[in-house]
Amino acid sequence: MSLKYHPPIRIGLIGCGEIAQVAHIPNLTYLSSKFELTYLCDTNAESLAFCASRCSNASIKCTESASDLCQSPDVDAVMVCSSDAFHTEHGLLALKAGKHVFIEKPLALCRRDIKALMEAEKGSKGKVFVGYMRRYASAFLDAVKEIGGVEGVQYVKVRDIICPNSVFINQSGTFPYKFPEGVTQEAAKALAEREESMVHEALEVDMGLTVTEKRTTMLRLLGGLGSHDLSAMRELIGMPTGVLGAYLTPTMWTVLFKYPTFVATYESGFNSIPLFDASIEVFTENKAVTVKYDTPYVKGLPTTMVVREKVGEDNCGYQERIVRSSYEDPYTKQMGEWWEFMVNGKPVKTTVEDAAMELEIFKMILTAAG
Ligand SMILES: NC(=O)c1ccc[n+]([C@@H]2O[C@H](COP(=O)([O-])OP(=O)(O)OC[C@H]3O[C@@H](n4cnc5c(N)ncnc54)[C@H](O)[C@@H]3O)[C@@H](O)[C@H]2O)c1
Repeated sequence: MSLKYHPPIRIGLIGCGEIAQVAHIPNLTYLSSKFELTYLCDTNAESLAFCASRCSNASIKCTESASDLCQSPDVDAVMVCSSDAFHTEHGLLALKAGKHVFIEKPLALCRRDIKALMEAEKGSKGKVFVGYMRRYASAFLDAVKEIGGVEGVQYVKVRDIICPNSVFINQSGTFPYKFPEGVTQEAAKALAEREESMVHEALEVDMGLTVTEKRTTMLRLLGGLGSHDLSAMRELIGMPTGVLGAYLTPTMWTVLFKYPTFVATYESGFNSIPLFDASIEVFTENKAVTVKYDTPYVKGLPTTMVVREKVGEDNCGYQERIVRSSYEDPYTKQMGEWWEFMVNGKPVKTTVEDAAMELEIFKMILTAAG
């Protein structure tokens, strides 16, 4: 079979922080037949210089202006890996420049920002791809097929209890660096202002809740860790109709979601056991299907689907299948899908409209918790 050659898509990456250093820059280098990193942007000059020194492209361009990067003729598509509060601003710059844009999760935390991105997409040649990478993991895709919809679902359990990311990152072999002394006063002020405005919009305007420290922390945690689990839950079993109960603390939180014919528990949080205990488990009459995730920071750790099920005719046969259909990590799978969209027009599932549903779930949780 002969494959049609397509020149690598030239990528401009905004936000040279942890995830760029640990996942995206190394992955873009591995995927050199599909992508070429040509431009980097960060307001932190030290992070920018460090990341440039890590790139295989010795003539990579660098800027502290996201606008310059987006408009550059050396950039075909943009990756936004900046802080949450800048995702919309940077996404809008890319769309305004008519470029496709990958935006890390959470896409946005308030409707104002979702609306702005939807409007911008209408007038642009570019489209947004949201980086919900767990939804591109091979085990997740296998489970979507294995479960085949909500019919017959009796119960669902979503779990994400992990230790601090630094435990895994320090063993990832990627040796990232943080440069706190490189954060200018201007950049810190701009970030704080946008964070405050985003939280105000999300809690007060969208949810009708007073801004408190605890709600702010929980909103950020739901957007950070929670959006992985909740967006995967939505794809597997659809949107919940409500929340029956929620107990939220910044270290551990539990939510009981209501669906028309079953409930789903969502338990998440942090402790110091060096484990990445993340899974989604779906129970039906004859079968329980579990998607198991390991830390994405250590490249190549497989995601697996475990199926425990009844077999045979006499009601007592049992089998357990562990399916690892690929060693390719979710970040690599995700980039492959983005490339397929840009080169071959394959439809994107993690769109702005899709990410908008997340805000509804955050609202259900935070209003139920009171
Ligand atoms: N998909 C995943 O598995 C995953 C994992 C970790 C983080 N993330 C997401 O990626 C994003 C970045 O996370 P991180 O852990 O790398 O954070 P980080 O704070 O380490 O990095 C963010 C970088 O953005 C830069 N930045 C901030 N404002 C900027 C601006 N206006 N212009 C240019 N650069 C700017 C900062 O200087 C910093 O270097 C977050 O939205 C986070 O939710 C996703």
